Formats: sequence, structure tokens, C-alpha cells
Amino acid sequence: MKIDGSVALVTGANRGLGQAYARELVKRGAAKVYGAARNPAAVTEPGVTPIGLDITDAERVAQVAAQCTDVTLLVNNAGVMKASTFIGAPSLDAARLEMETNYFGTLSMCRAFAPVLAANGGGAIVNMLSVSSFYTNPFTASYGASKAAAWSLTNGVRLELHHQGTLVVAVHASFIDTDMAALVPGPKDSPESVAQQAFDAVEAGQVEVLADERTRTVKAQLPRDHELIYPPVQEFWDSAVSGTS
Ligand SMILES: NC(=O)c1ccc[n+]([C@@H]2O[C@H](COP(=O)([O-])OP(=O)(O)OC[C@H]3O[C@@H](n4cnc5c(N)ncnc54)[C@H](OP(=O)(O)O)[C@@H]3O)[C@@H](O)[C@H]2O)c1
Repeated sequence: MKIDGSVALVTGANRGLGQAYARELVKRGAAKVYGAARNPAAVTEPGVTPIGLDITDAERVAQVAAQCTDVTLLVNNAGVMKASTFIGAPSLDAARLEMETNYFGTLSMCRAFAPVLAANGGGAIVNMLSVSSFYTNPFTASYGASKAAAWSLTNGVRLELHHQGTLVVAVHASFIDTDMAALVPGPKDSPESVAQQAFDAVEAGQVEVLADERTRTVKAQLPRDHELIYPPVQEFWDSAVSGTS
């Protein structure tokens, strides 16, 4: 589909990657861009229409879908990462919040907007996933579980919505230069690059974006993950917990 003339809704549009998504949509000529955020006053991007939305609030998700009946492109960007381990975390709170937001929130948005997209000719959904959808990093373990679940839902929603002509695009990335990865040193993708690749895929009808070299390498290594992916992760984790890293 063409971005030019589309009507898009981006979740988490107030900062980070969501703001870059909204800006890129305006730049590519979207007729309208709804910038959804828990605090709509924080959506300041020129050309973007703010709308209040917490994606974990099912009632509000339904209201927004009933209000924004012109949407042809849904960008499920909103997400949380609590840097929580499976075993060492003090409680299940972080794991539940990540699953509630990254999985159930995204699922809830897909369900609410599927009929809207159908009524408008099919359109597209972009789901913001991660390299962590593909393997478990123990430092962000429960986040990875939520992104693996969101990857699964993305594949399933694509199958279920094929009949109505909705393109469902999975965007996987390693570290992106936003607040979420602020404490991570080293090279990061720019939010602009991820947004450009995502909308290039929408315009080309492609179902998957692997936004950087690390993400492409990890996906290619999946058939041999226990030889190629997990041994260095294990070594890093063991040295971190024994205090030698
Ligand atoms: N940064 C990375 O390294 C990286 C890598 C791969 C994938 N991702 C994914 O990229 C997406 C965007 O993340 P980011 O890097 O831009 O992180 P960020 O700077 O922390 O921004 C997260 C955004 O999600 C919003 N959000 C969180 N919970 C929400 C909820 N319940 N309802 C509505 N909005 C909610 C936040 O709103 P508030 O301002 O209200 O908190 C904020 O706008 C996420 O799905 C993330 O998992 C990030």
C-alpha cells in the first residue's frame, strides 16, 4: 500500500521510535496521522493529531477504534522493557506488565482495528517486535518472552487477516537509540532508519523487516541457536553473575 494518502495511527507516538514513526508518516504524505499516547499533550510532532490511549485499557482501545474509523495503517509501537530476569526478579510484576503491554496490548489493538482496516479496503498493520523475539537474553528475559509472544501473534494475525487483504508487517530490531536503550553502550539503530525500513516494507508489500546486521545474523542462526547464539550469551551471563565481566 502507499503511505501517501493513508490514514495512520501510531501507538506510543509521544517519544522515541513512535515519534519517528509519526514523523516519517507525515513526511511520506499520510493524509492523517493519529499520534496515540497515554498523555496526548506530550504528542508534539507537527502534523500529528494527538489522541489519548493506554493500550492496556481494553475499553479505551475500543473507544479509539470506534472514533478513528478512517484508519488504514495501524502501527503498534508502544512497549515496555523492565530489564527483568526470570528467576532473580523479586516478583512477577515486571513480567506481567511487559506481557500485558507488549503482547495483550498489541493483540487488543489488532482485534479492535481489524474491522476498521477491513472496512477501509484492507490496509496494513506494523507490529514493533525485537531481536529478542528470536532468542532469550537473560538480562531482559521477561521482555523477550513478551516479544516472542508478540512475534507469534503477528504471524497468526497475518494468517487470519489475509482474506481481508490486510498486510501484517513484523519489524525486528536490535538496540535503537531511544530512552529504552539509554543505558546500553555501543552502536544502535537510529529510530529514523527503523521507521524508514518499516514503511518501505509496507509500500513494497513485505511481511518482515530485519532492521540491522545483528538482527539479520540472529535470525539466520536460529536453526543452530544452541551452537551459535546461546553459548556466548551463557558465557556473558555466567561472567556477569560471578562478577568477572
Ligand atoms: N529501544 C530499543 O532498543 C528497542 C529495540 C527493539 C524494539 N524496541 C521496541 O520499539 C518500541 C518503541 O520503543 P522505544 O525504543 O521508542 O522506547 P521508549 O522510548 O521507552 O518509548 C516507549 C513508548 O511506548 C509507550 N507506552 C508504554 N506503555 C504504554 C501503554 N500501556 N499504552 C500506550 N503507550 C505505552 C511509552 O509511553 P509513555 O511515554 O507514556 O511511557 C512510549 O511512548 C517498543 O515496542 C520497544 O519494545 C525498542
